[in-house]
Amino acid sequence: MTTAPIDDKTYGELREIAARYPEPRSGLLPMLHLVQSVQGRITPEGIEACAAVLDISAAEVSGVATFYTMYKRHPVGDYHVGVCTNTLCAVMGGDEILARLKEHLDIGNDEVAPQRQGDTRTVSLEHIECNAACDFAPVVMVNWEFMDNQTPDSAVQMVEALRTGNEVSSTRGPTLCTWREAERVLAGFPDGRVDDGPTAGEASLAGLQIARERGWSAPDPATVPVPAESKEGDA
Ligand code: FES
Repeated sequence: MTTAPIDDKTYGELREIAARYPEPRSGLLPMLHLVQSVQGRITPEGIEACAAVLDISAAEVSGVATFYTMYKRHPVGDYHVGVCTNTLCAVMGGDEILARLKEHLDIGNDEVAPQRQGDTRTVSLEHIECNAACDFAPVVMVNWEFMDNQTPDSAVQMVEALRTGNEVSSTRGPTLCTWREAERVLAGFPDGRVDDGPTAGEASLAGLQIARERGWSAPDPATVPVPAESKEGDA
């Protein structure tokens, strides 16, 4: 996909994001997402644009953009597929999913699969760390939407559907949108679908369900004894 320039409209939106915060530079993270929504990744032009709007140096912007893994300095696919292989996902099959996708797509970590004849969309693959969704392990993410309880077969079916332009929904509800569309939402420009899908899945609520059945509740903080060490530390 071509890289669109940072034009007047984008500069306006970058300024709009910065103006949301008492300290404009607090808007840098969503501004970088906006750059990715326009250019697909963090480009030198995008870094300069953020620096100009915030009146900070390009080095300061670059320092942030290179720290967080959600910001990409190389192109990704229309659908960026992340496979978690942290402890629980690995135990539950994440390593097998990643190995199978690498083999199926014939790519390594952080690469974009070649577009075949008939493909309408591209897919990239990344080995990611824990996504705090361990109760649905093994977890795959597509443009930061969860695909819970995956298997090597379901992951291959999913990437094939995405490459050939078929609609795919997250296991938690929303239809998967493209990388650039997702990045625009992360920049703070909603797509009107915030309420799609459930707010919490069955596995996340299992503990609450058990507590309710047994009449358990959290202790009143006022009645919880404070350890002596904490009291000394507070003084
Ligand atoms: S270990 Fe995979 S989501 Fe936590």
